[in-house]
Amino acid sequence: MADWNALEALLRQQVTGERLAHTYRVLEFARRLGRIHGADEARVAVAALMHDYAKPLSPEALLREAERLRLAIHPVERAEPHLLHGPVAAGLLAEQGLVTDREVLQAIATHTTGRAGMSLLEKVLFVADYAEPGRRFPGAEAVRAAAEEDLDRALLQGLDNSLVYLVGRGWLIHPASVEARNWLLQRRHGPG
Ligand SMILES: [Fe+2]
Ligand SMILES: [Fe+2]
Repeated sequence: MADWNALEALLRQQVTGERLAHTYRVLEFARRLGRIHGADEARVAVAALMHDYAKPLSPEALLREAERLRLAIHPVERAEPHLLHGPVAAGLLAEQGLVTDREVLQAIATHTTGRAGMSLLEKVLFVADYAEPGRRFPGAEAVRAAAEEDLDRALLQGLDNSLVYLVGRGWLIHPASVEARNWLLQRRHGPG
C-alpha cells in the first residue's frame, strides 16, 4: 500500500474545495467510530481518505472507466453512473497498486450503496460518509447520534432515509441498498 502522504497528495490533485473538506470530516468521524466500535485504525483511515477519489469524474468518464476496469455494471448504475464512483475509485486504486488491502477496497467500493454482509469497516465508512457533521439534511443528526452507540441502528436509519428519499423523488434504487437493509433487519429481528 502506498504511504499516507502519497495517497493524500494524489487525492488533492483530484478532489478539491468542499468535496475535500467533506473527505476530512468523513476521515475524522470514521476514525472516531472506528475507535468506538473496534475497527482497524489504518484501514479506516485509508478507506475514508480515498472514498470519493473518483467522485469528480463525469458520468461518461465513470462508465468508461468502469468498462475499462471490467467492473460488473448493474443496469441501475448504467442509468445513474454516479453510483459507480465507489467501485471505480477502488478499481483505479487497485490498478495503480496504491491500495492493495481488499477490505479497504471493498469499503470504498460499497460506500454509496451498502451491500448485504457489510464488514465492520464498510459500516463505519458508510455511516461516517452519510452522517459526517457537515451533513445537514433531515435525519443526519439522528444517525450521527446513533452511530456512536449502535452502528447497525445508524446504518439501518441511513439506509431507510436514503430509500425513502429516492422513492419520494421517483428515482431508481440500487438493489444492493435494499439487500443491505433486508440483511440488517433480518439479523436484528430475525431468528439468529
Ligand atoms: Fe461518495
Ligand atoms: Fe463522501
